[in-house]
Amino acid sequence: MANPSSSCPILCASFNQDASCFVIGTREGFKVFDSNTGKLFYERAIGAFIVVEMLFSSSLLAIVGAGEQRSLSPRRLCLFNTTTGTPLRELNFLTSILAVRMNRKRLIVVLQDKTYVYDLNTVKILDSIDTVPNPKGLCAFSPNLDGCFLALPASSTKGSVLLYNVMELQSHCEIDAHRAPLATIVLSSNGTYIATASEQGTIIRVHLVSDATKSYSFRRGTYTSTIFSLSFGPSMQLPDILVATSSSGSLHVFSLGFALNQRSRKSSSILGSIIPDSFTDALDPAHHHVLHSAVTAGVKSNAVIRHVDKVADASTTGIVSCKATISIITYNGYLQEYSFSLNQRNEPSWTLEHEFNLLSVISDDTSSS
Ligand SMILES: *[C@@H]1O[C@H](CO)[C@@H](O)[C@H](O)[C@H]1NC(C)=O
Ligand SMILES: *[C@@H]1O[C@H](CO)[C@@H](O)[C@H](O)[C@H]1NC(C)=O
Repeated sequence: MANPSSSCPILCASFNQDASCFVIGTREGFKVFDSNTGKLFYERAIGAFIVVEMLFSSSLLAIVGAGEQRSLSPRRLCLFNTTTGTPLRELNFLTSILAVRMNRKRLIVVLQDKTYVYDLNTVKILDSIDTVPNPKGLCAFSPNLDGCFLALPASSTKGSVLLYNVMELQSHCEIDAHRAPLATIVLSSNGTYIATASEQGTIIRVHLVSDATKSYSFRRGTYTSTIFSLSFGPSMQLPDILVATSSSGSLHVFSLGFALNQRSRKSSSILGSIIPDSFTDALDPAHHHVLHSAVTAGVKSNAVIRHVDKVADASTTGIVSCKATISIITYNGYLQEYSFSLNQRNEPSWTLEHEFNLLSVISDDTSSS
């Protein structure tokens, strides 16, 4: 685990399925925050945690210890009730738990060589998937019950991804996305699209999950860098934008649906080359907007798009401008909220709306939340 973040106070950070809350694990314990206000909802200081996941805005957390305290084994998953402050269920595994995902029906546990699928309510095992060695616990999950997919690496030498249908408990397809092994994968909220980046981090690809066709390719940059996070806009239809954060400290926004709408007004031949399922490589750089030095270079980060507001132009029925709220957790202990806007002339603007230090906030009253 020789990464530049290994000395960071935050060991893990994730947003819940609708990005209304986020949770972090530190050397001291775990904390639950409100994404809008940065308010601390809940905290427990009982040792180091390497995995903390929250089920929507419920009282359910899935937590895994970092192995720094003897009682907090990285091989034990605890389903924890934040209302009662007590464990509901514990599951022990033979090797360390690398990632956990949940929706209202399923619980996914990712280990180095195996991924387990459970029924969340009964905690009964439904399936186990043998994977290629997945030491980083790479996975993506679309929580929507229609279109509930799990994406896992399908090769350790190239960037292939396995898509598994979590409700039907069967594999769906395999996509060869990159030449180099995968570094980051994400699914849109109802599993329509998957975005991937390889360890090279120069190209981000977006595929349509239903028939495994490539829809978009974006060039992030020329030099190799680590893509720490990818996130689609919250829309169920064609997500409007995709964001990426990288080890260079830049925040990238790629327009998907928005680009499509804008371009379609100009030329139908251009539209033909960017509609989903046509095989086309790197999109026009006009669809890529970068904020340099958004976060500290080299520090791991996790960004999500929380809202997108679009303004439609009545005269063309096209979408002509948009405004997005992007929240970024950096593993050195901060939450930043940026607002990103694109005007009619495709000119971007960025505003840092808030910045919170996640390690210094103190909850007003934990017992009332
Ligand atoms: C947690 O405990 C509260 C109070 O007993 C209960 O209402 C809630 O359903 C529990 N949550 C879970 C996820 O079991
Ligand atoms: C996702 O939502 C869109 C729009 O509601 C719908 O057309 C599409 O079929 C959905 N995808 C899945 C996999 O359910």
